[in-house]
Amino acid sequence: MNIHLRELQRNDYPEVIEIVRDIWDGDDYVPSVFMNWIQEEGSCCRGLFISEKLVGFSRLKRLSNTVGWLQGLRVDPSEQGKGYGRMIAERMVDFCFSIGLKDLYFSTYFDNKSSIHIHEKIGFERIGVYTNLYKSVNTPPQDSFRGCLMLDESLPIVKAGFWNGWSFYPEGTEAPWRFLPEHLILINSNSGDSIVVARNCEASSSLEISSVWSKSKKLNDDIILHAEKLCYNRGQSEIHLMLPPDVEIAPFIENGYSFFERENDVFLYKLSAAS
Ligand SMILES: CC(C)(COP(=O)(O)OP(=O)(O)OC[C@H]1O[C@@H](n2cnc3c(N)ncnc32)[C@H](O)[C@@H]1OP(=O)(O)O)[C@@H](O)C(=O)NCCC(=O)NCCS
Repeated sequence: MNIHLRELQRNDYPEVIEIVRDIWDGDDYVPSVFMNWIQEEGSCCRGLFISEKLVGFSRLKRLSNTVGWLQGLRVDPSEQGKGYGRMIAERMVDFCFSIGLKDLYFSTYFDNKSSIHIHEKIGFERIGVYTNLYKSVNTPPQDSFRGCLMLDESLPIVKAGFWNGWSFYPEGTEAPWRFLPEHLILINSNSGDSIVVARNCEASSSLEISSVWSKSKKLNDDIILHAEKLCYNRGQSEIHLMLPPDVEIAPFIENGYSFFERENDVFLYKLSAAS
């Protein structure tokens, strides 16, 4: 049996589609992003072939010369439970370190037991737990500003890292504005609270709150409502964010945001190369 990994190309698309057809009840986002994954600079999508048949794959997005983001680990449902997922993950990590990357990151959902198990076995360490929040926006929000809000279009310096969709961009990400299209910083000058909004890189109809910072740990309504207004005015229909554990969820819930299943549902992992 010939087993090997190689970089995926355009003509692998039909097999990729076949693999993800029934994953998450057919709701997998891979079909809509695969062509970007194989074209984007710094992106590398590698597939595991067994006797020339594609059984699974994973994607690396290089964030700098030393930092990489891993995503899109998939195994054909009919081939799951046979060790292929772990094989792909391990070989992908080896590949990343072989090209000079030093720190690798990825995220997964709290109930994805096999993904968590595979990555923890490889040595990934959980470095953060976030709450995935979203809100549909179909009407303009009822905003009545009490605080004074400033809009800042300069490049945000997001020291603690930031999210866009399901991808996290840690400090050290080169040219971070690439991952914050149409970004804007909203600052409440009374409280000092700030958020960074951008277009969601993987779903242009979604406004991403990429970073949330609050001295009091509780954002006030003004800034939340203003983000919603921006979403509406930009013609987008959803807001999404990954809320860090040190910022209260209550103001978002009170303003109509929902979580998927529960709080603290997204785990962020990191693995560093041995020095
Ligand atoms: C996640 C996925 C890639 C795993 O692929 P796979 O080929 O089934 O995984 P493997 O057979 O290599 O390994 C699964 C491991 O998880 C373990 N596992 C499975 N279910 C588990 C559970 N409920 N609790 C703990 N461990 C579990 C298995 O015992 C095995 O570990 P072992 O090698 O130490 O015995 C595959 O299920 C998949 O494509 N899922 C849908 C997409 C997805 O969730 N991708 C990950 C997104 S981050």
